[in-house]
Amino acid sequence: MTYRKTLLLATLLTGSVAINALAERTVTTLNDGWEFTKGRPEASTKWQQVRVPHDWAIYGPFDRENDLQKVAVEQNGEKEETVKTGRTGGLPFIGQGTYRTTFEVPDTANRNITLVFDGAMSNAHVKVNGKDVAYWPYGYNSFYADVTDAVKPGANDMVVELENFERASRWYPGAGLYRNVHVVNTDRVHIPTWGTYITTPVVSPQEASVHLEMDIAGARKGEWVEVATDILSPAGKVVASNNTRYVAHGQKFTQNFLVKDPELWSPETPELYTARTTLSVDGKQVDSYDTRFGIRKLEYIPEKGFFLNGKETKFKGVCNHHDLGPLGAAVNKTALRHQVELLKDMGANAIRTSHNMPAPELVELCDELGMMLMVEPFDDWSFRPKSPNGYGKFFTEWAEKDVTNMVKHFRNNPSVVMWSIGNEVPSQWGPDGVQELTMLQDLVHSLDPTRPVTCGMDQIGAVLDNGFAAALDIPGFNYKPQHYEKAYATLPQKLILGSETASTVSSRGVYHFPVSFDKEHNTVLHPDNQSSSYDNETCDWSNTPDIDFFMDEQPWVLGQFVWTGFDYLGEPSPYDTDAWPSHSSVFGIIDLASLPKDRYYLYRSQWNKEDETLHILPHWNWEGREGEITPVFVYTSYPKAELFINGKSQGMREKNDSTLQTRYRLMWNETVYEPGEVKVVAYDGAGNPKAEKVIRTAGKPHHLVATPNRTELTANGDDLVYFTVQIADKDGNIIPTENRRVQFNVKGAGKFEATANGDPTCILPFQNPEMDLFSGAATAIVRSGNTPGPVIFTASAKGLKPAVVKLNVKPSDKPAE
Ligand code: GAL
Repeated sequence: MTYRKTLLLATLLTGSVAINALAERTVTTLNDGWEFTKGRPEASTKWQQVRVPHDWAIYGPFDRENDLQKVAVEQNGEKEETVKTGRTGGLPFIGQGTYRTTFEVPDTANRNITLVFDGAMSNAHVKVNGKDVAYWPYGYNSFYADVTDAVKPGANDMVVELENFERASRWYPGAGLYRNVHVVNTDRVHIPTWGTYITTPVVSPQEASVHLEMDIAGARKGEWVEVATDILSPAGKVVASNNTRYVAHGQKFTQNFLVKDPELWSPETPELYTARTTLSVDGKQVDSYDTRFGIRKLEYIPEKGFFLNGKETKFKGVCNHHDLGPLGAAVNKTALRHQVELLKDMGANAIRTSHNMPAPELVELCDELGMMLMVEPFDDWSFRPKSPNGYGKFFTEWAEKDVTNMVKHFRNNPSVVMWSIGNEVPSQWGPDGVQELTMLQDLVHSLDPTRPVTCGMDQIGAVLDNGFAAALDIPGFNYKPQHYEKAYATLPQKLILGSETASTVSSRGVYHFPVSFDKEHNTVLHPDNQSSSYDNETCDWSNTPDIDFFMDEQPWVLGQFVWTGFDYLGEPSPYDTDAWPSHSSVFGIIDLASLPKDRYYLYRSQWNKEDETLHILPHWNWEGREGEITPVFVYTSYPKAELFINGKSQGMREKNDSTLQTRYRLMWNETVYEPGEVKVVAYDGAGNPKAEKVIRTAGKPHHLVATPNRTELTANGDDLVYFTVQIADKDGNIIPTENRRVQFNVKGAGKFEATANGDPTCILPFQNPEMDLFSGAATAIVRSGNTPGPVIFTASAKGLKPAVVKLNVKPSDKPAE
């Protein structure tokens, strides 16, 4: 949903925004002008000026003692409690934090003022002019408060008090006002927050019916409100209209439309329509409200799978936590866009928002870029919560309110194609869990009957026996694909979803020898606290990607959501033992610095059907391994390839059914390392050479290379560019083993924002403008300011020629709010 910003006059005042009193609806996002302190303020408090979204804990320092947890993870079969360092990222997010700001309300007569919080971590108490206006415990959910009775014309004070408890999470939750805060100023008669609901009951290529249901707030009993809605096509043309009268008695109001030749939404064609609704009283327009939506048909057909607009579609999905690596939990739309674009290039078409409500910016981007979403609220219900101080404490009182906000918030977004009601909740173990399941599923159905409900279940044996899996719309299994057949045969739905798959572990650019798949399903630990990028290592409950690709070939398997798309802060399994420093996951297909691991190309070779994939691993800089067996794997969209080392053929390999791995990977297991050149020539099924790739042993370090992910930024204070920083030899070969420290400098129309190298054991702060390379690379992120002009980025290291990149920051066309 988007709000239309109807502004007659707006003046930008040092980043905050003044609004003309005559505007019928204004939405002001409060970014600048906030002050923050840890704890609660005292007379002596020196407030810190901050920009919201803000994550107070991402600045560190990392410390083993931060939220140190001693637990037995029952899901992983652990019986004894052990110390798990870095479980929640080793960052200082526990404790209290307080924010304050002022916001303007030009006039209060006949106005309604609502504050909308996209998310506040956590246990938020909000006061306006000293009056309590909201309390919301769950840090991931959006909530709002009607503050009409608390505000006065002019400047209004707002204070937000937050508090995070220890042992409340299994990963890094972030801390603070990490999502946006909005002031919504409307007429007395208005459409309230999340007050519209659009469905498209009939969809065909020829026509679609559009059903708009809305709440109209503030009208007096019996008052007449003229409601006019235009449906705008993706190109902005009015394609249907409805102009009708509402007689207010507190009831809902509906309008219906027929759209000819609809442009259907799909990941390939993310076409978006807008319903533009105006309310008028006594001939005067009092509100204008835009609801963005898509027209698409979802069908989950027993035995046959998922059909989007009549086309069989597999979920090629990833699970993601919400943090943005070195940016922490503070939401940034450009960072999210970078994530979604990387995933789309890999061929992914879906994200599961594990295990909590997403930022609205992510859902908007998925609508716009074409990415399906499974939206999930919880990691715990009330029964035997996994995190003793987590959501389990609030479930009984708050679950209904939380699910209601989540569904109302995102039920107009076409990218959302399924709801999940939980992840591996211990309630699944006993028959009583079905009561909780039914309560949640019925609630979701009552708010949105158009999408099915699933739940990520890991106890396959229990849930097949106790009725839990049979009670869901869609049974979603976490891991154990070898049991899908049995589940399919047993369950009434005749569909299975891989709600969470793989959990393969790998560290970018790290390779362990000897290479074998014999230890799959066993936790393998190495002295360097890293996992091998040959993609052969897992935890004891997890598996390599290959079996999931195989199961996806069954029509009744709806597809999968890999754990995870991106590495995240916390849960550094298999080094979740007392292996400090180890603070972030290695499950990701892409690392914490947003750099793809080898595994990215394995998924890409299967999922991206448009583009060629041809990727060689490992790197070929193995000084000291001369003469030793150093297997070479090739991840490719082609069925076969021939490998050459220094011009000598190592033979042809063709994908085949002899093992699960040979179906998806081309492997030369006996190749011996000698410095020089590795070349692969890929062939199509008919035996025609189609593509070649070469990697070479790099020589001595000579110069830095900085590669930006884009060439132009926008001067809106929020835009980001990601530089990949590497070191090359004099011939330009990237050196994959360089780990030296690199300094960053930014001049002109931007500033240095953060850096990361993807190494879970590195505890250098993300915000200092220097970083050690890890496996030859690090990422430096630069943020645009509010002024256009050139921005110059320099990466330098002692004794090497620096890399200097100049980019343009263009004027922002964002209308002043
Ligand atoms: C799953 C769980 C995820 C994550 C994952 C790691 O069981 O749902 O949140 O912990 O294991 O493999």
